[in-house]
This record gives sequence, C-alpha cells and structure tokens, in this order.
Amino acid sequence: MYRLSAARRLRGDVTIPGDKSISHRAVMFSSIARGETVIRNFLTSADCLSTMACFRKLGIRIEESPSDPSHIRVFGKGMHGLSPESSPVFLDTGNSGTTTRIMSGILAPQKFTSVLSGDDSLNSRPMKRIMEPLSLMGADIISEKGNGCAPLRIRGSALHGIDYRSKVASAQVKSAILCAGLYAEGTTLVHEPSLSRDHTERMLAAFGADVKSEPEGSGAPAGGADPAGGGASFSGILPADELYSPGEITVPGDISSAAYFIAAACLVPDAQVRIRNVGINPTRDGMLRAARAMGAEIVLENQNDDVEPCADLVVKTSSLKGTVIGGGIIPALIDELPVLAVMAALAEGETIIKDAAELKVKESDRIAVVTENLKAMGADITATDDGMIIRGGKPLHGALIHTYGDHRIAMSFAVAALAAEGETILDDETCCSVSYPSFFQDLLGLVEGA
Ligand code: S3P
Repeated sequence: MYRLSAARRLRGDVTIPGDKSISHRAVMFSSIARGETVIRNFLTSADCLSTMACFRKLGIRIEESPSDPSHIRVFGKGMHGLSPESSPVFLDTGNSGTTTRIMSGILAPQKFTSVLSGDDSLNSRPMKRIMEPLSLMGADIISEKGNGCAPLRIRGSALHGIDYRSKVASAQVKSAILCAGLYAEGTTLVHEPSLSRDHTERMLAAFGADVKSEPEGSGAPAGGADPAGGGASFSGILPADELYSPGEITVPGDISSAAYFIAAACLVPDAQVRIRNVGINPTRDGMLRAARAMGAEIVLENQNDDVEPCADLVVKTSSLKGTVIGGGIIPALIDELPVLAVMAALAEGETIIKDAAELKVKESDRIAVVTENLKAMGADITATDDGMIIRGGKPLHGALIHTYGDHRIAMSFAVAALAAEGETILDDETCCSVSYPSFFQDLLGLVEGA
C-alpha cells in the first residue's frame, strides 16, 4: 500500500536509471562475445537482475563493483562458450518477457537443453510469437503445458536462416530471431509492420555482427530506416563465427522511466524539471512526439550520440489538449501508453489511442487496467479492442488503485495521484522494482513540501 496526494510544485533535476531494454541486451551480448565488457549505468532492477542470474547459471562470470552495483563486468566466453552445470538447465526469468523471449533465440542453437520459466504473470504471456519463427529456423522449442506460454523447453539444435514476416511490431520477437540468426546457416530476415526498437541491431553491430534495419522496399543504407515515418521495415543478420566485446557500454537513462517525470512535470501546476541523460533513440521517442502533439513543453539539451542518442529533457507545466495516437508510432511508445492515458484524462478534449492491442498482453491487460483505474479516479474513458477513448478535461480525484502487480500501472497512477484532488492509494507499489526500484524516492524528491 502506498499513499500519495496532490503536488503543488515540482522542481529540480533527476537522473533516471539505465534503460531496461539496453541493459538486458548488454548482458546477453557481452556473455556470448569474446572478452571482457564493462557496462556502466546498468539497470539493477528485478527484470535485468533476472537476465544477469540466468547468464551466471549458464557459466558466465559477472562482477558488480562493490561501490556501484550499476557498474558491472561481464567476462564473455564467446558464441559457443555457455556452459551450464546441468542439461537441462532451469532458468528463472522472473517477470521479464524480454529475458524469456530474447534468450530463447540465444538458447535455441546451443548444445544443451534449457527450461525457461517465470512468475505467474510471465507464464501467462504469449510465447507462440517466438516459438513459431524459431521452429521455422529448426529450433526444438515446446511450451511444457501446451498452452503457448512458458515454461518453455528448448533442446539445442542446428538452425537455418528464414525470411519471416512478423504480424506484430515486437522488438522481443525480432531480437529472438536475430540472435538465433547469428548462429544459423544463411541470412535471416525479419519484416515488421513498423520498425520496433532497434537496440539489438545497434548493439550487435557494435559487437561486430553484420546486421542492419531498413525501411521496406528502399535501398537506404544501414541504419537508414526512418522510424518516425512508422512504415514497414525489415532487419537482417548474417551468421557470425564470433562476436567481440567493444570493451565498454554506457547505458543511457530509460525514456520509459523518464516518461513518468515528463507527465508529472506537464501536469503539476508549478513545475520545471530537468531529466538528465535520457535515451532518445528514434525508435523509442514516441513519448516525446505524442506529448508534444498534446502541447507538452519539452526542450532537449546537451544532446550526444554514441551507439544510442541521448539528451537532457527540460519539461515544464503545460496546457495539454487531446490527440490521436495510433499507427506506426505505437511501437515507439507502447510502454508509455498508460501514462499518456493519464495525461489525456487531464487534457482538454478527446484523445484516441488505437492500433495498440499489444497492450492486452503486457505485464497486465493494460487497456482494461488503465480504464478501470482512470474510471475510479473520475475520468471519462472507454476501452476499445485496440486502445482507449478518453474524453479529457474533468478533474481527477483520489481513489484506490489496483496495480495488478504491473510496474507501469503503479508508476502511471502515482503521477495521476500528484495531479488529483485528495488521497490516492496504490494497492501495491513494490512492483516498481521490476524496472525502477528508486522510483518513489526520485519522484517525491522533486515534490516541494512533500
Ligand atoms: C522490449 C520490447 C517491448 C516492450 C518491452 C521491452 C524490449 O515489448 O514492451 O517492455 O526490450 O525488446 P514487445 O517487443 O513485445 O513489443
């Protein structure tokens, strides 16, 4: 249980912890590369710690700096160096879909058998989306209960490349296939209805893999896809003999975590907040585009571009209006839709969120759960098959919020609480540890007079 009430002023600077998607990949790819990789600003949240524990169980030495747990060293053993103590090896993937799905692509071509299983929420999420393409590549992967969900049993086998058309724009699906493609015979291609986050392509390229993503039907050079265009795209990878550590990876701040601070700064009356060093990869920056379309005042400062582009975001109280969020932008803000719905409830006019049926298969059914909780706070919202219609402008009042153990619901409604009248109670705030263990400390650190 966690109690929150309205904030009158929000001021100061916040440094957001490392990006969850990039932290997972940094551990995964460092583990199967030759050499030592130093990872800075690694996200020490429950999900990323699940990935770390799985690779330790697969025989990889990973050391945390005693003075700073976000500074880790991974001693990679090469593409064929994973060496579990037993086969099958049982891997606990906790609440993490990213761990389960991407690791399946890495484990499918190994010489041992793995069983991947997580908590009740994870074990009810759809896995057919990776089982199907991996099986087409020659993988031996079964759902132990026959329900298309984890536990997954993967018996290592030889793989061959495929040319796969994914129905959903999912970076987890794409990444599982690309990772398997590293080990497969021939070229592997994945087509997506619109480009999902490209962290795998960027990072595998930094490890020496021959990989790229491009808009469908164009002859654009590697990295030339226009994610802001939102059109169909494909990613391709060639098999590799070995990956080589780039030495160091610095993980940018997570824009999905920054989203709560962007929303809070827009909604709280007297707010000006600097959110430092946030990743603004164009396949992830849909929050910035959608919030600006709603009238959010966001200024980018100190931009820098290494493997991943980053900037400070300076956000202040904004007068928001409704908008339409749908089409190709959805994969670039899929995790931010719950907090965008909160912003929409307090914006003038109607907001339509569409083409976002994927929300139903996240850590909770986020269409149902956002609708239930915003209604409890007095919002005028209707759930649809692929999103929500929110008629904004009515004040929100405090309520009891059911998070269903979903971190993004807890954090979105913590923001709603700051902009609502009266007291809001989250039934469970501990789920924030999945992606942002210090969330409440960081948020309340900005609330003046809290
Ligand atoms: C992620 C991809 C997204 C996102 C998830 C992290 C990733 O899922 O919702 O939080 O790291 O690849 P999908 O790929 O299933 O859309």
